Amino acid sequence: MRHLLDTTDLTVEEIDELIALAMDIIADKQKYAHICDGKKLATLFFEPSTRTRLSFEAAMMELGGNVLGFSDASCSSASKGETVGDTIKIVSCYADIIAMRHPIEGAPRVATYKSDVPVINAGDGGHSHPTQTMADLLTIFREKGRLKDLTIGLCGDLKFGRTVHSLIKAMCRYSNIKFVLIAPKELSVPDYIKTDYLEEKGMEYIETENMEEVMPQLDVLYMTRIQRERFFSEDEYLKHKDAFILDTDKLKTAKADLTIMHPLPRVNEITTDVDDDSRAKYFEQALNGKYIRMALIITLLKWGGAL
Ligand code: NCD
Repeated sequence: MRHLLDTTDLTVEEIDELIALAMDIIADKQKYAHICDGKKLATLFFEPSTRTRLSFEAAMMELGGNVLGFSDASCSSASKGETVGDTIKIVSCYADIIAMRHPIEGAPRVATYKSDVPVINAGDGGHSHPTQTMADLLTIFREKGRLKDLTIGLCGDLKFGRTVHSLIKAMCRYSNIKFVLIAPKELSVPDYIKTDYLEEKGMEYIETENMEEVMPQLDVLYMTRIQRERFFSEDEYLKHKDAFILDTDKLKTAKADLTIMHPLPRVNEITTDVDDDSRAKYFEQALNGKYIRMALIITLLKWGGAL
């Protein structure tokens, strides 16, 4: 049995296989419509979510399976003081696979110590978000036809943005990737991402506060929300909340085949007129999230011997 806590739990070959499976699901949905008949997915969301939880649930339903769970910690026994370990022990008696989101970094790892079924990290605090990264990789692959030879701009809250951390860890394993990190100094990527991934893997990267200057170089622009809930004070958040706003004007110097991504939810960092630009792919990215989660559910259930 295997869990998914971070993208690096998967080898590059396994990621290729998951993307191939997702592509096959997209091509022939009917073929997979009953593959999870009789199986149950539990979604345990101790933190808010729209896309991640609903796409997990839609994914399991489209595979013929059922879903149970909660979308708010206040609806669970966590509000009575139950530990994550106890909650997971119980839920793993009821479900065949668990997707869990928690505000505390490392909580899904603790869950794996107690679970009798595969646990998928659906986001833990400011740390990681591997299934979003899988959706991102599928999107880049569908748009570019490759996961190598790319200049990727990551913009916004690179300090607290867990999708950014997981995506950097994943992309460090492909050849000829250049990272352009666009953030205010106070919200730059954590040091461990630089030392243990970017520098350790010898990746080319630059840090800048000037989006316009780097725009013409980019193949992918990954915008992110300033993570209000992770700031220590509202004043700190207010200082940064309008740091980078992508609008149609700023896109004038961008490549014709730029791929604009965003894990969503967006606040104001991409103006809505950008949605009509054919390079905007964030809604497709959300749909890809469902397909890659279908591939992940099938694969983890198979690895665990439940399929
Ligand atoms: C992201 C998350 O939860 O980290 N959303 C998502 O899962 N699509 C990004 C965010 O909340 O800003």
